[in-house]
Amino acid sequence: MPSPIIIALDLDFKDSLNLARKLDPNKCKLKVGSQLFTSSGPKVITILKDLGFEIFLDLKFHDIPNTVSSSVLSSVELGVWMVNVHASGGEEMLEAAVSVLKKVEKRPLLIGVTLLTSLDQISIEKIGIKINLKDQVIRLTKMCKEKGLDGVVCSPQEISDIRKEIGKDFLLVTPGIRTNSNLVHDQKRTATPKEAIENGANYIILGRDVLQSINPSKEVEKIYKEIS
Ligand code: C5P
Repeated sequence: MPSPIIIALDLDFKDSLNLARKLDPNKCKLKVGSQLFTSSGPKVITILKDLGFEIFLDLKFHDIPNTVSSSVLSSVELGVWMVNVHASGGEEMLEAAVSVLKKVEKRPLLIGVTLLTSLDQISIEKIGIKINLKDQVIRLTKMCKEKGLDGVVCSPQEISDIRKEIGKDFLLVTPGIRTNSNLVHDQKRTATPKEAIENGANYIILGRDVLQSINPSKEVEKIYKEIS
């Protein structure tokens, strides 16, 4: 089966390449986020692709529609497999991102970030979101689906509720994955790899659990077996 595992390369350039060379592109895809992209630039994408990996460019674009659609178009030139935008950028911004991709032949999957997995009910209230967290995630997910995105990033704890509302035909990508519930770091809405997949996640993002393990490639193999 194609692997649902995405490894977050939240490392510097040298450490990212060292890790990538130990991983199997058949067992995981790689996520390049703001840390690695800011320190290394687009060349890191080319190098990782040459090692055989599909790349999720996780820059969470959140800007005016024109800027976001131009940035999404630039990600097409990089040949990434998946790219994301913040759903809270609003309908017009989502429409612009989708519309620019209609004009290209080979396009990445376009995913909307709902609410960061590091936020909980209290933190969203502090930024003025006064409704229930799950309702807000569902509201943004429905908006992304309506506007023609391919899926959303959400926490593993919302998968079942989202699936009930929007059905099977939409990608759910879940960070906040922890094999040990005592080591959540800054994440607030977490689950194990198996729980996330059983609940209906299409892809799970693993960062520190793998990056800080003694043998990251063995850890990926172990998780792959557990969820296969
Ligand atoms: O180390 P950890 O497993 O917490 O890493 C999670 C990764 O997923 C990080 O790279 C983080 O930027 C990313 N992410 C997230 N929450 C989102 C979207 C992406 O944690 N909503």
